[in-house]
Amino acid sequence: MVFRWFLNAGLLALPIAATVGTLMGIEAHRHAAGLPPLFHSDSHNNGRTTRDGISNTRYCDLFNPISPPSKGQLYTLNPNQWGVTEDTSGSLCVNITTIANGSYPTTATAPPFSVTWQFEPGPTRQPVHAFPNIMVDDVLPVALADISQLDFNIHWTYSVGSTPANQTNISQLSSNAVNTNVALDLFFDTDPQTAQNVSLARYEMMVWFAGFGNARPFGYSNGIARTKDVNGTIFNLYTGRNGLGQQVLTWFASNTTERFTGDLYPLISDLFLPYGDVRLSRTDYLGVLSFGTEVFSSSANVTFWMPTLSIDIRKSDTVTVG
Ligand SMILES: *[C@@H]1O[C@H](CO)[C@@H](O)[C@H](O)[C@H]1NC(C)=O
Ligand SMILES: *[C@@H]1O[C@H](CO)[C@@H](O)[C@H](O)[C@H]1NC(C)=O
Ligand SMILES: *[C@@H]1O[C@H](CO)[C@@H](O)[C@H](O)[C@H]1NC(C)=O
Ligand SMILES: *[C@@H]1O[C@H](CO)[C@@H](O)[C@H](O)[C@H]1NC(C)=O
Ligand SMILES: *[C@@H]1O[C@H](CO)[C@@H](O)[C@H](O)[C@H]1NC(C)=O
Ligand SMILES: *[C@@H]1O[C@H](CO)[C@@H](O)[C@H](O)[C@H]1NC(C)=O
Ligand SMILES: *[C@@H]1O[C@H](CO)[C@@H](O)[C@H](O)[C@H]1NC(C)=O
Ligand SMILES: *[C@@H]1O[C@H](CO)[C@@H](O)[C@H](O)[C@H]1NC(C)=O
Repeated sequence: MVFRWFLNAGLLALPIAATVGTLMGIEAHRHAAGLPPLFHSDSHNNGRTTRDGISNTRYCDLFNPISPPSKGQLYTLNPNQWGVTEDTSGSLCVNITTIANGSYPTTATAPPFSVTWQFEPGPTRQPVHAFPNIMVDDVLPVALADISQLDFNIHWTYSVGSTPANQTNISQLSSNAVNTNVALDLFFDTDPQTAQNVSLARYEMMVWFAGFGNARPFGYSNGIARTKDVNGTIFNLYTGRNGLGQQVLTWFASNTTERFTGDLYPLISDLFLPYGDVRLSRTDYLGVLSFGTEVFSSSANVTFWMPTLSIDIRKSDTVTVG
């Protein structure tokens, strides 16, 4: 038997690839503990327009977990500009569209959002400026063996300029030196609590739906480890270790994939088959799941738009009724 499992919002903001270092650890801890962020928010930059119960709110804060009203699953969005320092040249704002009564098309539907940003290239040792993301939490951690499906439905676009476009023009992104990706980010560990710590979890699994410019998964130069077809989209697996020594397992779509509907669980279960020193197990836990865009640099303002997102983790009911 399979039942719908609604996820609730948490207060952690996450980096991709745990390149974060301690700053995020401190911030995540402060938020988990209900403390204000270390950075002051640029609240003078924020704005809101409301029409017929639908609001468009802009958040330009460096760090601000936002959980819009919902009738089912809750999501937490965050500008998460963890790589921005006093020396950084550029800016980033997240726009979130919310329905005051929380009645989205399905209980798993996330509020639509967009991210407009521009940053000059950062130093080679730290090229990432932000990972604006949307995350699901609360019911995590969960043992991998207890998940029956990870239903995932997305539509996104990336465009040059400050307004969302209907389609991504890859050559236009490349002529504006846009370096970024679009990715789902998951963390696993044998210990359920460790799985929830993005710097300590043993494995990070990413699913890249696009990589623009010089954005590359860890282990890219080692070549493709495996290939998997999920509902017509070909994902190539790359494996490598990040600066924290975590094993990073990246499924990179062979083509830029703006629309996807399917069950991503096979990308997890495929890793139960050992590869190199990867030993993911059914008894390991999924501790963190988020989706976003890893922001490196661009010569012009670019806008990531996410009109459609729904994440539905379904759990297999293993309880036997006597
Ligand atoms: C994750 O682990 C690191 C290293 O032990 C620690 O500093 C940090 O506070 C932990 N983060 C959370 C959110 O517990
Ligand atoms: C973001 O929200 C602000 C405030 O409502 C609005 O002025 C702006 O046009 C929005 N931008 C995008 C890209 O949706
Ligand atoms: C919720 O708000 C939306 C947008 O204003 C409206 O279309 C819808 O009818 C409302 N639903 C309920 C149940 O009030
Ligand atoms: C570029 O984006 C920022 C938000 O990150 C916005 O404040 C600024 O007005 C935009 N610039 C242009 C020229 O649209
Ligand atoms: C995007 O598509 C919608 C619906 O097809 C259309 O009304 C709109 O004009 C398009 N916008 C742009 C910028 O092409
Ligand atoms: C995409 O961008 C290129 C270069 O900026 C431009 O020449 C081309 O017309 C654009 N294609 C579409 C379909 O808009
Ligand atoms: C998608 O990727 C495959 C494998 O890399 C390639 O052969 C194919 O031409 C690509 N399709 C498109 C539409 O770009
Ligand atoms: C596969 O993708 C199509 C759209 O391309 C979608 O209609 C269908 O529901 C997807 N199948 C599954 C099993 O998710």
